Amino acid sequence: MTRALLLFAFAALAAFSPAQDLVKQGEAVFSKSCATGYCHGAKGTNGGAPRLAARGFDQAFIANTVQRGIPSTAMPAFGTTLSRADLNAVVAYVASLNGVTNLITNSGPGGAPAVKLSGDAARGRDLFSDAVRSFGRCSTCHEAGGIGIAVATPIAKVPADAAALKALSTSQVSTVTLGGESMPALLVSKKANTVVFYDLTSVPPVLRTESPSAVQTRDGSPWRHASVIGAYNDAELSAILSYLRAVVKP
Ligand code: HEC
Repeated sequence: MTRALLLFAFAALAAFSPAQDLVKQGEAVFSKSCATGYCHGAKGTNGGAPRLAARGFDQAFIANTVQRGIPSTAMPAFGTTLSRADLNAVVAYVASLNGVTNLITNSGPGGAPAVKLSGDAARGRDLFSDAVRSFGRCSTCHEAGGIGIAVATPIAKVPADAAALKALSTSQVSTVTLGGESMPALLVSKKANTVVFYDLTSVPPVLRTESPSAVQTRDGSPWRHASVIGAYNDAELSAILSYLRAVVKP
């Protein structure tokens, strides 16, 4: 090897190896602590707990959630149980599943090739999964163009404008009654021994598994879509609709 090549190799090692090692270590921590099947699935697919890959999470959000957990859900705080090195590694790993570390995969979220969008639609894509809106962002409940989690069924029809988006009729949302408490819900599955649904009382919605004998379900709910998109103004919603028009296949 020539001297120049050697230098190049060292430079490349210095640039890529630590990051790749960190993600590798994170994958190992993830398999041990997070992907138990009961909780998150392998490689960030969904298990009993939501999917973690390709949800448009950013590093700060992931770090915060892993360290502090999510109150009143099964997501524990790992801030005191994992070593600092393991914490950093697992956060880097989940970030890589969300396309944050595209230095390594050179691809968009979820490993999909990045979609080329222009102007309004590109702005809309950023707004759709905008970290600043926290869970108020669309990607908390919708997947479009490989970004976000599909809590709601895939978007089939893009509303004409912001007003139509706010006035949406949400016919899939039903009412689940459990222990005398009623909640708006999206049913995922109903089997002989389990009913699985998203409880829309809180944002992000919580995936719950209950016994059919414990729950009553009925069609319809007073839940309104307008109640969850208040983090955006009309101009922002219009840009998001441009994005949806570009990526939603009819
Ligand atoms: C807290 C969860 C949540 C958030 C956040 C959210 N939505 Fe929704 N959205 C829903 C639910 C639930 C439905 C209703 C599904 C049904 O009844 O068909 C829905 C329905 C829709 C539909 C209609 C889909 C169709 O094909 O009929 C569109 C379009 C939509 N949402 C866009 C958005 C956009 C854009 C944002 C962000 C500005 C957003 N949503 C934020 C939960 C959410």
